[in-house]
Parts: sequence; C-alpha cells; structure tokens
Amino acid sequence: MIGHEFLHAPGPTHVPDRVLRAMHRQPLDLVDARLHAIAQTCFSDLAAVFRTSGHVFVYAANGHGGWEAALGNICVPGDTVLVPEVGHFSSAWADHARALGLVTESIPGDWRHAIDPQAVEDHLRRDGAGRIKAVLAVQVDTGTGIVNDIAAIRAAMDAAGHPALLVADTIASLGAMPFEMDGWGVDVAIAASQKALMCPPGLAILAANARAVEVSARLPRHQRYWDWQPRLGEASYMKFCGTMPEGLFFGLREALDMIGEQGLPEIWRRHARLAGAVGRAVECWGEAGALSFNALRPAERAVTVTAIRTAGSVDADRIRSHARQQLGVSVAGGLGALAGHAFRIGHLGDLNEPMILGCLAALELCFLELGVPHGRHGVRAAIDYLAASRAEPMAAAA
Ligand SMILES: Cc1ncc(COP(=O)(O)O)c(C=O)c1O
Repeated sequence: MIGHEFLHAPGPTHVPDRVLRAMHRQPLDLVDARLHAIAQTCFSDLAAVFRTSGHVFVYAANGHGGWEAALGNICVPGDTVLVPEVGHFSSAWADHARALGLVTESIPGDWRHAIDPQAVEDHLRRDGAGRIKAVLAVQVDTGTGIVNDIAAIRAAMDAAGHPALLVADTIASLGAMPFEMDGWGVDVAIAASQKALMCPPGLAILAANARAVEVSARLPRHQRYWDWQPRLGEASYMKFCGTMPEGLFFGLREALDMIGEQGLPEIWRRHARLAGAVGRAVECWGEAGALSFNALRPAERAVTVTAIRTAGSVDADRIRSHARQQLGVSVAGGLGALAGHAFRIGHLGDLNEPMILGCLAALELCFLELGVPHGRHGVRAAIDYLAASRAEPMAAAA
C-alpha cells in the first residue's frame, strides 16, 4: 500500500509519532531512579485523567485483564453482579464475570438505546437483601456506539439506597469525553492503553476509590497478579507484581504529556467536533435507506465510535474489507448480534479533521465502488459541519 494506512477502528487507535519515538529506547535498570519517576508521574497523571484522588493500578494486560482485575478484587466466586445490557461489551463482560464464578443478573437492552437508570433503580430496589455486590456499567459500548450516563446510574443506585459498588468500563471513553470518577461516585473505573490514551495495546489501567480498596482488603485472597493489596505500596516492582512493562510506560509518559499540553476540556471538545462530523456524514449517507445509525437517539451516540447498520443485502463486512484492502482504511466490523450487519468508525485518540475526512471520503468511495446506495454528500455535510464548528476560533485568529 502506497502512502499512509488509516486506522479508524475504535481501538487499537493511531499511535502518535511522539509516542512511538518515546518507546524507541533501551529498557532501564529496575532500580534506576528515572524509571521510578516515570512510574510515579504516570500514576499521578492517570489519576488526574480519571479525576480521582483514589488509587491507580496498571497491569501488563488488555481490557479483559482490566475486567478481571476489577472483579477479582471486589468479588469472590458465588457473588452476584448486575450488568445492564447495552451491547457486545456489556454482554462479554457478563460472560467474563460468569467465567470467574460470579452470578450475573442482567437488565435486558435492545442494543440501540442507552442503559435506563430507572430500570437499574427498580432492579436494585428488588434486592432488599443486598445480594448484588456491584453494578457493571460500560460508559461507551464500542460494539453499539452507545454512551451511557454513568452519573445517572450512580444516582439511581443512591435512590434505591443500595450498597453495591459502581464499576465503570471507560475503556473506549477515558480521555475522550468527560468522566468524573470522584464527582460521579464511581468506585472502580477500568481503562486500557490502546484507545483515547494513544498508546499501543498492552496496559490495563484501573482506578479504585477507598471504599473499593476496603472491600478488596476484607475479602479472602484468591488471586495474586491482580491483587490490589501488594500493589498499594511505593515499591515499583510490587506495583507491577514483577517487572514493569517499561516500553509501554515510556510511551504512556509521552501520551500523558500530550494530554497535559492539550488539556482534557479541549480534547473532549475535539472529540465532540469530530464525532459531529461523522454524524453529519452518516445522516446524509442514510438518505438512500441502506445505511443508518445503530444508536437511535442522537444524545446516546458516543463521541468515540459510530456504529452504522446496513440494510437488506448490503454486506457490512464487504464494505469493511474493501476499505481496508483497496484503500488502506481500517474500520471495524459489527460484533455479536450486529456481525455482518454493521460497521464501526472509530474516532478517538490522536485524530484531527483531515484524518477523519480522509476516512469518510474513503468510505464514500467504497460505497460508490461497491454500489452501496447512499446519500452522495456525506463528506460535504461533514466539511460544512466542521467549518461551522471551527468558525469562531478561526475568526478570532484572523
Ligand atoms: C468498552 C470495551 N470494553 C472492553 C474491551 C475489551 O478490551 P480488550 O480487547 O483490550 O481486551 C473493549 C475493546 O474494544 C471495549 O471497547
């Protein structure tokens, strides 16, 4: 493939050159003070991204590892957790919990709407005995492109007067949109390096508040690698239950510097702007009836990923493989119930206007080449939207 390949999956995402360059160095001796400083500053900067004064834990693992770390610390086999269903990742998380010996209760969803906080409240009210130990809520379900209101879920738990812990999967949202761990009363939050944190895959990143850490301290120890207790001390080696994944931390340090330079509010605005552009294109493409948003309510569409359904004989996987093989643009496919019937554009992380317009234009070219019926002016609609949303700062700069 000549020229750049465009990675527009909702993770892993494009890694900035700065981060790649930062990783291109020899490992440091484990007792080197420079290594200790990198670890310490990463932990404190990550806490700032989660907006918490709680503890941060980092594992050499992926998002599934993060799920396991959270559940293994706050539950023991036989405990019950509540998983409101909102898409592939909430279902997979429930599956994962069952594989660890937990009992799951679900609030069924149609994968096209966000979690209904009232349903959470009603469900918890019926659990007068307090069997449910935790509510597992995904902030952005990457499979369906739906964003959930985590603060409203906490409010529902409080309204029910239920003592369960609130665990939020922020794997596809942290660093791209507002998340207020302490402000919203989230007890445990889970993230991963390969999404809006702009690093390669390989780090599962958790934050836990004092209440969650106390729960974990009281439970019988039934695991080692994931256990928070030995990781609470200052010693770097113990923080990682062994050798620190140094290369990834060199990259993470640089990525956190980039986040600090841009500032979270500006990063959130950029993600909202780029998502708005994608939304305008999809709206326009949908005019021909073959392509449509999976998330039915505009307010429930995530700023990090858009899931687009295909109708009738339009093969979503064909669009996806054509885009990747012929044009070097990788978008993701449909997952679970949406397999073959949807494709997903990731718009998170190190991304700017030309990159997202390149992706949208390539998809439009793809639709033309494959004969997918679509409204013809999707890219134009995206450009118009960007021009309007950028007009103010441009005028000020002139
Ligand atoms: C919301 C969400 N949760 C969990 C995961 C699982 O993460 P991983 O593939 O790194 O194990 C993903 C991955 O895309 C995700 O988007």
